[in-house]
Amino acid sequence: MNPPGPATRARVLPVAGRGEEIPEEDVVRECLRRTPPHLPPWLGYDAVGSDLFEQITELPTYYLTRVERALLERHSPEIAELLAGGRIAELGSGSAKKMRLLLESCVRLRRTTYLPIDVDEGMLRSSAAELCSQLDDLEVTGLWGRYEAALDWLRDHTGEPLAVIFLGSSFGNATREERDGLLHEIARTLKPGESFLVSADLDKSPEVLESCYNDPVGYTAFADFRLNYLTRLNDLYGADFVLDDFVPDACYNTQTSTVEGRLRARADRTVSIPGLGVTLHLPRGHFLNVGYSVKFDEEGLAREVGAHGFHLRTRWLDPEARYGLFLFRRDESSPSR
Ligand code: SAH
Ligand code: AVI
Repeated sequence: MNPPGPATRARVLPVAGRGEEIPEEDVVRECLRRTPPHLPPWLGYDAVGSDLFEQITELPTYYLTRVERALLERHSPEIAELLAGGRIAELGSGSAKKMRLLLESCVRLRRTTYLPIDVDEGMLRSSAAELCSQLDDLEVTGLWGRYEAALDWLRDHTGEPLAVIFLGSSFGNATREERDGLLHEIARTLKPGESFLVSADLDKSPEVLESCYNDPVGYTAFADFRLNYLTRLNDLYGADFVLDDFVPDACYNTQTSTVEGRLRARADRTVSIPGLGVTLHLPRGHFLNVGYSVKFDEEGLAREVGAHGFHLRTRWLDPEARYGLFLFRRDESSPSR
């Protein structure tokens, strides 16, 4: 009998609505009521947002993707050995282009099931099909929905040993409170001895970070990506944002080691968002925050993840220590259980 073809090895399952105690609208409303108002990262990733993020990864000043790819090119065989899981779940998989490098090394060692998790269904379907056409011995079950719902699905569907992976430094797009919630869920999903691999952009000078997160002359990928959040609010919740009323930029907050992606109101603005029952007042010069990108130091990250019942097994940094891949193991007993 012929081995299963690429089409039968790739599938995508909706997990939205499962285990999500808080409906999407409530999350967005709550974020908008904060000071300053902000928007959750997942809102920005429809087909347009995902495509703009891919353009960001190619900007000459956005070093994160290139440095992470180089780390994976170099260390994937070693990482694959250490992961030792027949199932690999990736939070916020996007195009999964870099993940392919690690999966190549994994399938050389064992048959592997890859479980990419993403809110963008189109991206999930195309990356699943592409990976299966490139790698024999790979099965892909895409989980379409938010992280919490997918982790809940993973807890219900046990099987081969599991590793959870969080690439792209997307862990840093969550606030401290959100990261604690996420780590709690990840720790509940993994068994003792299983792996959590997370990548992090390391703290560096404001000049480098601000040039990384603002468009270089002649490019508009970051500006369009940030403004797309307003288009999403208009499309999903009937808001009346006029995109030209807002100026996108990014600023590094040294107090919190966070790059803040912002939309500044050119003049006093009152925007109605009927689908959320919200009226938003933005005085001239005030910001709507559309993306936190936290920059870590190694010890702080190890402490933060360690507090949820993990210990750092090993880590890989680029030669200039700009960026790291950190491999944690789930402890025998965990405060998160
Ligand atoms: N890991 C990829 C993509 C990073 S972009 C890389 O390194 O290039 C961030 C991805 O996470 C997007 O595809 C977005 O749709 C997804 N995402 C963001 N927040 C999410 C959430 N809460 N749940 C599920 N997916 C999310
Ligand atoms: C996807 N994420 C890790 C990118 C970053 O560098 O923080 C892109 C981004 N997301 C929100 N703002 C910017």
